[in-house]
Amino acid sequence: MVNGYSSEWLAKGFDWVYANEVVSRQGNSGPGQTVQIFSRDGRCFGTGVATGGKVAVRRFRDDTGPIDETLVAERVRKSGAARKMPTDTTAWRLVHGENDRLPGIRVDVWGRHATIAIDHPDLSGLIGWVASAVFQACDIDTVWLVDRPEHDDDRGEAGTGTCLLGPDDRTEVIVRENGLQYAVSPWLGLDAGLYPDMRELRKWLAPYWGNCRVLNTFAYTGAFSVAAAAGGAKSVDTVDLSGNAIARAQRNFSINQLTGGQFRFWTEDTFSAIDRFRRAGDRFDIIIIDPPSFARGPSGVWSVEQGLARVVAGSLRVLEPGGWMLVATNQGSMSPKEFQKHIKTASLKVGRRMRLIHQGTTPHDVPAAIDFPESRYLKAWILEG
Ligand SMILES: C[S@@+](CC[C@H](N)C(=O)[O-])C[C@H]1O[C@@H](n2cnc3c(N)ncnc32)[C@H](O)[C@@H]1O
Repeated sequence: MVNGYSSEWLAKGFDWVYANEVVSRQGNSGPGQTVQIFSRDGRCFGTGVATGGKVAVRRFRDDTGPIDETLVAERVRKSGAARKMPTDTTAWRLVHGENDRLPGIRVDVWGRHATIAIDHPDLSGLIGWVASAVFQACDIDTVWLVDRPEHDDDRGEAGTGTCLLGPDDRTEVIVRENGLQYAVSPWLGLDAGLYPDMRELRKWLAPYWGNCRVLNTFAYTGAFSVAAAAGGAKSVDTVDLSGNAIARAQRNFSINQLTGGQFRFWTEDTFSAIDRFRRAGDRFDIIIIDPPSFARGPSGVWSVEQGLARVVAGSLRVLEPGGWMLVATNQGSMSPKEFQKHIKTASLKVGRRMRLIHQGTTPHDVPAAIDFPESRYLKAWILEG
């Protein structure tokens, strides 16, 4: 039985019950069990799976029916049918958790591979059903289970992955996004090598790269850099603290046959790189800033709340007047208002007015249920500075 606050949210379509909203339990309601959710006045709010941790129940259906293989297969089939992926894009999300009414379950497709990630180990009883449903719904060879720490956004620590169906072949997979190629390792889960949720932003920028000097900071495997170089940028500087990420970025340039001294790669802290560019008088027409929510770096622990204004201010100092800056965060707990505040702080600090020219979000294969605010994690603004 849940309290009044939870009942209100369940009635609106929110599929989580938090642990502190449970007022009583009956029968076997331990972790991993199927449970029915009732309000204090006896109204049934449907059926879910009980989990330990801050979310006590994830609701899978609004009635009292079972959570079984048939339900899971139908949900996976339905979300697959809703994805209208163009043929030049082979990395996409098949199941986006709550938003596809499979709470706590994410399925990504990487060419002929699919990965399943669950938000909580108490959902593991569903994995076999999800794997066979994915195999039926998609034209794929392999299904992997990948690690995913309980987290309110899409990125974090990587794991090693377990092969559930098909051959356990861990050789590089080449996927396409808007016609460009990227090397990925699906079994690495969050470190697969590409963030398809940024696809529409890369597409939006595609007509504008021509003849621009581009700086891609926190670049990871350089997906924005590849898009810029392929789009005719005059120069592309790719900066990431991780040598491994930079090596993967170089590999992505190579598989797209993008070569030349105008494409430079820096294994370096973003702050030190920006400072170096500023001192050298280097200026950029487009700057990409998509930092992690948390990270450990040479200047201590990075958090987007503490560091966003500082990195935007630093980047403004190397942005050509009238240039564009993409600032993005996948920190779900940061509200759009707070995000704006950080950008405003930076703009005031440097004494340069900025104008919003595009507000981007996730593509259609990463949908957000209207009554599930946690799903609208990505804030991505393109600003003129
Ligand atoms: C969220 S990912 C960026 C994703 C990328 N924009 C894309 O679309 O593929 C964050 C990246 O920031 C890098 N990073 C973390 N701290 C850094 C720092 N202080 N300086 C430079 N890169 C850093 C990480 O290694 C990681 O590759």
